[in-house]
This record gives sequence, C-alpha cells and structure tokens, in this order.
Amino acid sequence: MKHAERIAILDFGSQTTQLIARRLRDKGFYCEILPFNVNEELLFTPETKGIILSGGPASVHEKDSPHPNPALWSGRLPILGICYGMHLIGQHFGSPAVPGKQGEFGRAAILLQSDEAMWNGLGDRMDVWMSHGDHIEHVTEPLNQIAGSDVGLVAAIAHSEQPVFGVQFHPEVSHTTRGGELLRNFAANVCGCRGDWTMESFVELATREIRATVGNRKVLCAVSGGVDSTVTAVLLGRAIGEQLISLHVDTGLGRKEERQEIEKLLAKQEHIRLQVVDASDEFFRNLSGVTDPEQKRKIIGRTFIDVFQREAARVEGVQFLAQGTLYPDVIESVSVRGPSATIKSHHNVGGLPDTLRLTLIEPLRELFKDEVRAVGRLLGLPDAILMRHPFPGPGLAVRVLGEVTRERCDLLRRADAIFMEELVRSGWYSRTRQAFVVLLPVKAVGVMGDHRTYENVCVLRAVDTDDFMTADFTRLPYDVLARAANRIANEVRGINRVAYDITSKPPATVEWE
Ligand code: XMP
Repeated sequence: MKHAERIAILDFGSQTTQLIARRLRDKGFYCEILPFNVNEELLFTPETKGIILSGGPASVHEKDSPHPNPALWSGRLPILGICYGMHLIGQHFGSPAVPGKQGEFGRAAILLQSDEAMWNGLGDRMDVWMSHGDHIEHVTEPLNQIAGSDVGLVAAIAHSEQPVFGVQFHPEVSHTTRGGELLRNFAANVCGCRGDWTMESFVELATREIRATVGNRKVLCAVSGGVDSTVTAVLLGRAIGEQLISLHVDTGLGRKEERQEIEKLLAKQEHIRLQVVDASDEFFRNLSGVTDPEQKRKIIGRTFIDVFQREAARVEGVQFLAQGTLYPDVIESVSVRGPSATIKSHHNVGGLPDTLRLTLIEPLRELFKDEVRAVGRLLGLPDAILMRHPFPGPGLAVRVLGEVTRERCDLLRRADAIFMEELVRSGWYSRTRQAFVVLLPVKAVGVMGDHRTYENVCVLRAVDTDDFMTADFTRLPYDVLARAANRIANEVRGINRVAYDITSKPPATVEWE
C-alpha cells in the first residue's frame, strides 16, 4: 500500500519490537518493521522519513552480532537507536558500549539534560524501563550525552550535527511512562512526519487500492466467521460490491449457530453475496474412526481444501483470492529470528494451495489485530464479532477428544454456549483471552433424582495470555464457575460432570489437542 510517510523500524530481535510499531501507530504514525539488514532500496523509499533501530539480545561485541547495512549511516535520514540500537550508534561514532558488570533491569528514573527536540514537553525527569547488560560509559564527540540515569549511567545520546539519537531505555514499554510521547517527538519533531495515519485513512486508502488492483474482475473470499475474514470480506464488499463472492464452508465443527450468525451479519451488508456450502457430512465422514489429534488436523485441512477448490471452480471468472492475513504473520516471516518457531505447523486450515491459480489479495496485511477491530468498528460490525475469542481452524474437532461425531460436537456446542453465556453475563468474557469447553472421551457416574447416571465429562478452560506462546489459567470467580457447571450438568443431557482446567502453558497447551 502506498503511504504518504512511514517510519522504518529495523528489527534486531527485541521482544518488544512490535510494541515500538504499536506505540507509533497509536500516535498516528505509520511504521513498518523490516529485517535489520534490509537493503538500501527497501529502506530508503521516498515515503520513509526516519529509522528506528530496535533493541536486541545480542551484544555489539559478539562476533556474529547483527549489524545494519552500512548505507544506514549515510546521514540521509534521522535515526533513533533503542538499547542495542543505541550501542550500534555508539560503536559507529566512536563511543563503544562496554559490557556491564551486572546490567540494569527494571524501573529507573532519568534526568533529561538538554532542550533537545526529542525531550519536548517531557520535563526534566522521566520514569523509564531499562533492560541491558552493556552500556556506553564514555560519550565522545560527535556524540553527546543528553540524559543520565539516577545511578549515573548514560541514558541517552545525540549526535552534534546529524539527527541521530540513542536511548538506553525502552520507550515502547508501558513502564516508560511517557515513552509514547518520546516516540512521537522523534517522528514529528525530528523526522517531520504529519502523523495522520488513522483507521479512516486506512479504509480510504485500502478501498482505493483494492479497486485499482481488482478493476472489473472478481474476488473470492473464504469467510470463517472469525474477526479477520469477516473484516476482510466487509472491506472488500464496500470496495468492489458484487465483484466479491464470499464463501462460507460449514464444516459442522463451528461454534453454536456460527453459520446462521454469518448469514445474518453479511445479509445486512449491502452488495455482499454469501454462498454457504454445507460440507459437514463430508467432514464427519472423513473424520470417522480417527482419534489421533495430528491426523484430525490433516484430514480437516485436506477436506477444507477439497471443498474450497470444488466450490471455487463453480464460480466463473474469479482471479483473486482474498485472505485475512495480519501484520504479525507478515513480520514473523521477515524477523531477525527468521521464520519463527511461533508460526505453528498446525495453523493449516485456510492455507489454500497454489493450484487454485488465484492471485492473493490481503488487504489487512499491514494491520495489527486491534487495528483490524477498529476498522471493523468503522465498517459497522458489532462487538459480538469483533471482540470474539480466537477459535482454532480445526474447530471443535480438537476439543472433542477421541472420535469426532456430529452428536458429540452438538453436545459440546451446547455446553460451550452456556459457558460463554455465563462469561458474558458476569463480565468475564472480555477479561479472559480465550475460553471454551472440552469434551472428554470418558464417562462418570452421577445421580439425578433417584436415578444413577453414567454420562460424559467436560472441562472448562479459560486463559490469560499476551501472545498465546505462554498462558495461565484465568482466575475465574468460583460463583461464575459454579453457575456454568450447574447449568451445563442440568441443561445438557449427556453431560453430568464439569471440571475446570488449572494448568498453565507450558507445560500444557491452550487447547487439549
Ligand atoms: P495451543 O493449543 O497451541 O494454542 O497452546 C495457542 C492458540 O492457537 C490456537 N490453535 C489453533 N489455531 N489451528 C488454528 O488456527 C489450529 O490447529 C490450532 N491449534 C491451536 C488456540 O486456539 C490458541 O488460541
């Protein structure tokens, strides 16, 4: 997408690189994360107004530590180095960092020493977050110290002639109380950016670009009912109207009334033509007798592709396939860590094969998740869709442990809907990142009235997490759990016992399979 201005963030492997981008975008500055050694052509594009060097786990002294393309130092654009990024600046301009004896980790206070444009409006003291081993001990010309920490360490440096700055602390994390303002000072005062990146401007730009790319041709979009694919479809529908064909494959493994909800929602959107294929028989047939989790995933992935290909072939004259790829997926594949281990092999459903011979169109590929939600809100989508918890591609198949049948999925759907109702009612739905019910392949004895029952056991799961790589169980109040358990055992015939999963990830995972 052609942006009027951007800040380029070179990723040296910090855990918080994405946060730098988030903070800048929150302030209205469009920015992109690029690999640390990106070539000159991709770095010095006409819209690039400044460059930020992220932190990173390496030490500049290490033999293989990541270094940027030397063209970075040509003085063409303003530079802000954060932590490791500041050490690169120090090393280049003759004020090398030295290994610290013990490093500095956690909160610190710093004193801002001069009236630099970078410190505009920040006063003379700031609470910051430090996380470093190495530090710059002696600052020599052409660099100057412009802030020091309360324990006497160099906290920030500036070049005397060029717009080059370095900060030892992390302005992007929330503990650095005015870090967002500092980043805004860099983008606005140093780089001269206007900062007019908003979701309104994104929708306008995306609409124009989609129209220019698609012309009078047709686009096929798979709509699962999740946030990303729904926003993609609605955005495309607004841009190209009837040239968009949306396709929902009902796998039989979705949430309760998922298909009806999508139908209802998209019916409200002018222009959107939704085709629904009920492929549930095919999915259950292919899954019959299968209990191994990986095999289930493979079968579902394959069946999805079969169905999608068959249906795509029925729609005449389609040239594009729309997908709801988001920015974190794009960054993962360019990051300093390489295609990272965080991309799971099991995220396979929706990965459609090249044999479709359709050109991909991914209008959300520059957005973070909450930007996608903001776009969805602008387009009039309800919070019930936008604030939904994530749902795995293979759906209930990985939550019905053991063999997956239509009956067991129905049973689970009913229990899950009750748990969701109780979470929403108590206000806990939005306070947990993901919650769901799992149906176990074991039975337990119970008693109802004068009768002994021998029925299924289900487990409630709710997790708190930042990125799903690690997670902890949500401390739901006992009365919320009690109400959900009581209702499930009473209202869902076939389940007579409810447990709550209190394991964290690791050693467990979020899903049970
Ligand atoms: P785990 O179980 O790996 O889950 O701790 C982390 C997050 O990923 C989701 N998940 C999946 N999503 N296809 C998906 O699209 C899958 O096969 C899959 N398995 C897990 C899970 O729901 C959680 O949000």
